[in-house]
Amino acid sequence: MRVAVPKESRPGERRVALIPSECRSLARKGFEIVIEGGAGLEAGFTDAEYTEAGATVARGPTEALAGAAVVARVSAPATGANGRPDEVAALPRGTVLISHLNPLVDVDTVSKLASAGVTAFAMEAVPRITRAQKMDALSSQASVAGYRAALIGASELGRFLPMLTTAAGTIRPSKVLVLGAGVAGLQAIATSRRLGAVVSAFDVRPAVKEQVQSLGASFLEAELDEGAETEGGYARALSEDEHQKELDLIASHIAEVDVVITTAQIPGRPAPLLVTKAMLDSMKPGSVVVDLASESGGNCEVSEPGKTVKHGNVKVIGPVNLPASLPVHASQMYARNVSEFLLHLAPEGELNLDFEDEITAQACVSHAGEVRFAPAREKLGLPPLEPDPPPAAPVGTEAAVDAASADAGSQNDEGG
Ligand code: NAI
Repeated sequence: MRVAVPKESRPGERRVALIPSECRSLARKGFEIVIEGGAGLEAGFTDAEYTEAGATVARGPTEALAGAAVVARVSAPATGANGRPDEVAALPRGTVLISHLNPLVDVDTVSKLASAGVTAFAMEAVPRITRAQKMDALSSQASVAGYRAALIGASELGRFLPMLTTAAGTIRPSKVLVLGAGVAGLQAIATSRRLGAVVSAFDVRPAVKEQVQSLGASFLEAELDEGAETEGGYARALSEDEHQKELDLIASHIAEVDVVITTAQIPGRPAPLLVTKAMLDSMKPGSVVVDLASESGGNCEVSEPGKTVKHGNVKVIGPVNLPASLPVHASQMYARNVSEFLLHLAPEGELNLDFEDEITAQACVSHAGEVRFAPAREKLGLPPLEPDPPPAAPVGTEAAVDAASADAGSQNDEGG
């Protein structure tokens, strides 16, 4: 079965979906990997290394996609907007796509993939269960982002992070505050600690307190009305009263810290506001805020995605797509996630989609011409799917997807 890896087209994307070592082990399992020439270069992997690992190097996107049953990508395929090519239209009907798709937000792409007859799997929608840990790209890429955020904070600050005792005097360690202690936040805490900073952190999920403390940081406590953790393990949006308590808590600490790293997210919603202008006004000159949520609305009132904003004497940085700034290891980890997911879909080297399986069903956002991802259906104004999943259609050929669409159509006709 042929697996294609196109060159990424999103501006600034430097990662690649499969690296040579993963190609080698997939080739051993009978997969035929075709990589577009130059696709791995920005992540440090040459065409020669791919060839040596048993992959075929294609001369362009068309040659790479020809005959592919599966296409593996890092960023979602472009839909023809903003001067980028229409990569969705270029996918042959019936193709299986494995990619980041941001399906809670980018429902337009999900809808176009469904119309194009693509069976699309969003790496963000892989359920975070023990069985799927090796496929958890949200975690692997968030830890890259958290690490990078700590380094950005350290390098933008005009001070040392560690305590130093020198002949020229003693330097006090800098203080770092991390808001949101999920995967990215915990990595930012660990990295700042390794650099010698004194670190404190806050999260609305009380369960993370122990994790924060085990990394040598202190945990700020707020009295929320009840635990702010949903059944799925994510944070819920706070009530106005709870949010005010949280803001008061942050305001009472922020004036004494040198670096603030914010990572708070609520899936599918704008990021919560945690650092107000008034708080920035209270910070010491030269302090730095790194807002990892700037792309989803921002945790800081003044942050702008992709920009550094000066608010008085405080620098507020809103980095975008941080995992792409560490392309070697981000690609290495993502490629492992993709390989594991591919092997889940095709354990014997051929696709065998089982929609009764929780990982396959939840990660699939479009299949047989239909949007399958419930939150995307809701946003698109589509009725919920029938509770029983549709029968698994054979995939990998145009005829198969047409047959499956016709089947779905005739079932609807019968039903209506
Ligand atoms: P995320 O990226 O959705 O959010 C980041 C952090 O922001 C979370 O810790 C969240 O609680 C926090 N947050 C939200 N609103 C906040 C507010 N108002 N103030 C302060 N903090 C706020 O979360 P991420 O990192 O993707 O992890 C979410 C959950 O997934 C966690 O429960 C984590 O333990 C779980 N998880 C489970 C895994 C598994 O294999 N079972 C693997 C990785 C994560």
